[in-house]
Amino acid sequence: MQIKNRITELFNIKYPIVLGGMVWVSGWKLAKAVSNCGGLGLIGAGSMKAELLAQHIDKFRKNSTKPFGVNIPLLRKDSDDLINLIIEKNVEIVFTSAGNPAKYTDLLKKHRIKVVHVVSSVKQAKKAESVGCDAVVGEGVEAGGHNGIDELTTFTLITLLKNNLSIPIIAAGGIAHGSQIAASFVLGAEGIQIGTLFAAAIESSAHSNYKQAIINSGENDTTLAFRKIGLVRMIKNNLTARISEAEAKGATNQELLNILGEKREMRGIFEGDLNEGMLEAGQSAALVNCVDSVKTIFERLLTEYNASIDELKRG
Ligand SMILES: Cc1cc2nc3c(=O)[nH]c(=O)nc-3n(C[C@H](O)[C@H](O)[C@H](O)COP(=O)(O)O)c2cc1C
Repeated sequence: MQIKNRITELFNIKYPIVLGGMVWVSGWKLAKAVSNCGGLGLIGAGSMKAELLAQHIDKFRKNSTKPFGVNIPLLRKDSDDLINLIIEKNVEIVFTSAGNPAKYTDLLKKHRIKVVHVVSSVKQAKKAESVGCDAVVGEGVEAGGHNGIDELTTFTLITLLKNNLSIPIIAAGGIAHGSQIAASFVLGAEGIQIGTLFAAAIESSAHSNYKQAIINSGENDTTLAFRKIGLVRMIKNNLTARISEAEAKGATNQELLNILGEKREMRGIFEGDLNEGMLEAGQSAALVNCVDSVKTIFERLLTEYNASIDELKRG
């Protein structure tokens, strides 16, 4: 892959391949591994308080001189603290998600921080562009974790974004093979973001049970739950069975919140409780077959990408 485009220029990286910010998964080690391979590693602040995030930023910098970013889900009650820390620590790249991009983009841009917002519809993307974001991640409903209520697939969303935006687009959702990277570029994306595939990598801080659950997942093993209180894609288990039953019976928001309880993500992803934890993962889990190092994954993605481009050229 030899690509120079607005995304490689924006982040000063070799390959326009981004590690998505992931709760309980993408700490400094995974981010470092991706950045050292020439991509952009994001530290996922979604499961960190400001103090812990500071440690991850410091550790990344001690171990790598490559560019990196931080993902901040804006629904966090302490998002002010996280944003202030980013500014204080001179972090150069921020990916915001799950909230209003108008909230912090201006402030971050004043500090010369590059801001990318994660969107799941054209409406959200236009908003992100209008408030000054440098790029968007267009995330389709195949993706692991929290999803947009519009449930647009990556294939449709990226094409719509390409037709409606001027700023560069990073495609996310369902990507775990180099041919899909090539396809994303054909659709008009200038970068891609990967979650599930890297969540199962050796350097991911997730529990080995969770990684194995990804490996074991086939094409029908993830589901979308909690449409009423915040859509999430995760691997099917006892918890998702109870949620679907409750949703089919028309459970109220409060009843669903009671089932959700607290710390389900930590329980599933970090502590490895396969029955009662939330095992956030995307449909691409079906394409992930072993726990590999990020370096091996990168080499495979690039080989697959190059083979796809050669095949296209051959016609
Ligand atoms: C375990 C897990 C946790 C995630 N946590 C976050 C998060 O904290 N913030 C965020 O913006 N996206 C989060 N995501 C979404 C990823 O950043 C990424 O956009 C998505 O996984 C891409 O789709 P894929 O899983 O098909 O590769 C998470 C995804 C997974 C699988």
